[in-house]
Amino acid sequence: MGLKILLHLFPLLGLAHALVLARTPTPCAKLPKPHIPGAKVISITGEEKHNLTVLQQPPTLPIDVEALNICEVNVTLTHPGAFDTVLVQAWLPLDTWNERFVALGGSGWLAGPGSAGLAIPASEGYVAAFTDAGLPGGNAVSPELWALGPDGKVSTELLENFASRSVHDLAVVGKALIKAFYGCPAKYSFWDGCSTGGRQGLVEAQKYPRDFDGILASAPAIYWPEYVMAELWPQVVMYEAGYYPSRCVLDNIVNAAISACDAEDGVEDGVVAEPAKCKFDLSTVIGTSVICDGGEHVEITEQAASIVRKMWEGPTTSDGKQLWHGMPIGASLADLSASQDVNGTAAGSPFFVPDTWARYFILEDPDFNAANINTEKFISLFRKSKKRFDSIIGSANPDLSGFKKAGGKLLVWHGLSDQLIYPQDSEQYYREVQHVTGYIEDTFRLFLAPGVDHCGAGFASIAPGAVPKNPFRDLVTWVESGKRPDALEAATTPNAKTQFTRKICAYPRMAVLHEGEDPTVAESYECAL
Ligand SMILES: *[C@@H]1O[C@H](CO)[C@@H](O)[C@H](O)[C@H]1NC(C)=O
Ligand SMILES: *[C@@H]1O[C@H](CO)[C@@H](O)[C@H](O)[C@H]1NC(C)=O
Ligand SMILES: *[C@@H]1O[C@H](CO)[C@@H](O)[C@H](O)[C@H]1NC(C)=O
Repeated sequence: MGLKILLHLFPLLGLAHALVLARTPTPCAKLPKPHIPGAKVISITGEEKHNLTVLQQPPTLPIDVEALNICEVNVTLTHPGAFDTVLVQAWLPLDTWNERFVALGGSGWLAGPGSAGLAIPASEGYVAAFTDAGLPGGNAVSPELWALGPDGKVSTELLENFASRSVHDLAVVGKALIKAFYGCPAKYSFWDGCSTGGRQGLVEAQKYPRDFDGILASAPAIYWPEYVMAELWPQVVMYEAGYYPSRCVLDNIVNAAISACDAEDGVEDGVVAEPAKCKFDLSTVIGTSVICDGGEHVEITEQAASIVRKMWEGPTTSDGKQLWHGMPIGASLADLSASQDVNGTAAGSPFFVPDTWARYFILEDPDFNAANINTEKFISLFRKSKKRFDSIIGSANPDLSGFKKAGGKLLVWHGLSDQLIYPQDSEQYYREVQHVTGYIEDTFRLFLAPGVDHCGAGFASIAPGAVPKNPFRDLVTWVESGKRPDALEAATTPNAKTQFTRKICAYPRMAVLHEGEDPTVAESYECAL
């Protein structure tokens, strides 16, 4: 009898022993290969780095970061059958870990920001990690080294990595490294990304709702097959008109619209608060004269006004069916309606995302010229894009019930003058999620920032709004205190013409000025419907 009990206890003792071992920190250079469902780890290397300096690399790293003490880990993995080699890199603070994990998203055609993107969060005590999704070339502006396989067909496996698979691997690897290195799991896990990184964050909420406690998805590139094609529409409009207005003329038309609609929200600050409500009459600019480079006077033609009208209206079929949103009024038109001089003749210059998307993915034809397509061709590409790629990279599933059930918090903010990914996309997604998921006020909050450009970069001088100061910190507070943010603190960037602070209110509320109070300070506003 006594022996039987002893034998029964043995496995329990073994288990207890294993639990103790799991709580013992493992040195950086000896971390075990993590287990990743659906992938095989090829190698793991870890190295302690002391007093590390990371030099600034704008825009990823705006400042030098000094005196970092970290364990740097590289995990390389492959998905059987995909013939890929994926890098996940993590920086684990050696002596100042704040018990949090943050995974960082990419931009353009990159799945992650590279090592430089880890420096600031690691200096603040976070374990920070990114993945390259196994995409050769490390090129944000072109997928040419990986889009097509040797057979000239789309590399679906790598596109899957870019679209969603690698984001989940990143979460699994990051968490496993933390457990092994510190001997205990992170208290909280977060996602932080803008644009492509915002899209990746939403994919996580949709497909892997338990990976992160909090997700910051800024200006997310969701509805990818549609929105990317819509970025080509301005080129179609100019090509069909056979007319390419200069940047100066386009800027002046946008500025006229801003002036006309600026005061509609009761505050004259050079910003259109509700672009959708701005009913600017474009005929008023026709025949007016604007001053362009070198003091030259240029007259705005009817053709230029008609082109801008179509860019604002967005792509439609010949029978008037709206295919996608138009460019928001107040946003710069510069990037999507760029043109160039080719041997004395004006020609279109498509933005790199739709250009490479059409050439490599939709048509599998690297020589295709996306600058010269008419409406008919555009519609056929638009439909192909959606039909073939929506299930892979649409990233806009509105069912967030899993994320809601897991208690996750999703913070999306989007500039209302985003010329690349239109804010109407985020608004549409929010409404769809609300429709499908039900009550989401404690799960998903959307913040629309008037007059702010893509990711708050502000590279267009005519987007002078207040940029959210620290939406990631707002997310962390929400997750850890349970108190949801009703407004984000925001301020204009130093190069903005007029300086002010402002509240960015949770959608659909807006910042409303208290009568008679100072319009340049956030405290004078309240959030109201
Ligand atoms: C991780 O990989 C990068 C890029 O190949 C390399 O520079 C770095 O030294 C590696 N770090 C470790 C710890 O292996
Ligand atoms: C850390 O690095 C900085 C700059 O590289 C150097 O000035 C400093 O002496 C180093 N500190 C230690 C403790 O090694
Ligand atoms: C522009 O002109 C040069 C010289 O005549 C010629 O070599 C080139 O092919 C032309 N480029 C285009 C795009 O037509």
